[in-house]
Amino acid sequence: MKIIGTGAYVPSTTISNDDLSKFVDTNDEWISTRTGIRSRHISSGENTSDFAVEAAKKAMAAANVTAEDIDFVIVATFTPDQFTPTVASMVQHRLGIPQAMSFDLNAACSGFVYGLTIANGLMQTGHIKCGLLIGAETISKVTDWSDRNTCILFGDGAGAVVLQQTEDSAFLQAECKAIPDVDASLSAGGVPITNPLFKEEPKDLFIKMAGQEVFKFATKTVTASITRVLEATDLTKDEVDYFVCHQANSRIIQKVAKNLSLPEERFFVNLTNLGNTSAASIPMALDEMVQNDMLKPGMKLVLVGFGAGLTWGASLIEWR
Ligand code: ACO
Repeated sequence: MKIIGTGAYVPSTTISNDDLSKFVDTNDEWISTRTGIRSRHISSGENTSDFAVEAAKKAMAAANVTAEDIDFVIVATFTPDQFTPTVASMVQHRLGIPQAMSFDLNAACSGFVYGLTIANGLMQTGHIKCGLLIGAETISKVTDWSDRNTCILFGDGAGAVVLQQTEDSAFLQAECKAIPDVDASLSAGGVPITNPLFKEEPKDLFIKMAGQEVFKFATKTVTASITRVLEATDLTKDEVDYFVCHQANSRIIQKVAKNLSLPEERFFVNLTNLGNTSAASIPMALDEMVQNDMLKPGMKLVLVGFGAGLTWGASLIEWR
């Protein structure tokens, strides 16, 4: 399996740190020094499927494939338009993809990397030649805009890749794992059970996060996961051209670089004007790297997701 096209889309409306300081007690200095984020895009009416469709169209154009070529549509998201139909079904419909396996995948910010492993498994069946893997989020709809601990972090958008079966796979090694978040350090989207016989108390729809717990989990787990994935191959960390981590926060990425004794320049960062876009962040980062002509055939990349669940995943790929 290899990536043959990338695409990304963000809504046009942006909110800067200064804008946020008008409705929560915060400021640009606090946010930018602790997170690296200066601005983020948020929906002014578009939903997750709208972002996903636009990113997918660009990826398909870059890959030079048509709707008839697509055998699966996987959308990684924790913020779908609704429970069902899935975002993947909506994408399939709007792109006119006639026959495909379509489903949403929720592994929060790890969704794109989980999706790569699933897509690779599908390709190995031999029946599937080409597919769309999309990370798309409308996090602004589950953000508590009165909570300064969380509303500063997130942004909306989508990234997509077209994947193609190859005899000699560019997908070299991976791990996808989770440990139960028993302390609920990161959660969102609770829907109470309400039926004629039972009425549950309202639950939290909005994101709740224990920031420092998530920071410790992320830095420790990402470091260990990169190390394990490389140990399973004959490659060393010095032979990896770029580490593309989930763009949660620049301090998490800096700490991982330090833990691995690697220069920060080897870690791609584009969260300054996007914020944390969860499952969309890695495919959006890949697309930006492609647009900036940073990726050459033969380069090795480690893609690393981490997030609610608590989930994580790392994939070592060769760029072709
Ligand atoms: N503006 C100003 N002050 C703030 C803000 C804000 N936006 N948010 C919190 N504060 C205050 C707190 O109230 C606290 O004040 P106090 O000392 O008077 O109580 C003080 O700043 C310090 O708060 P902490 O939560 O301890 O701040 P910390 O240094 O831990 O930074 C942060 C918070 C940036 C969230 C950090 O914990 C972090 O990076 N966590 C990682 C979590 C993350 O990135 N999550 C992304 C989502 S999950 C994912 O994608 C995997």
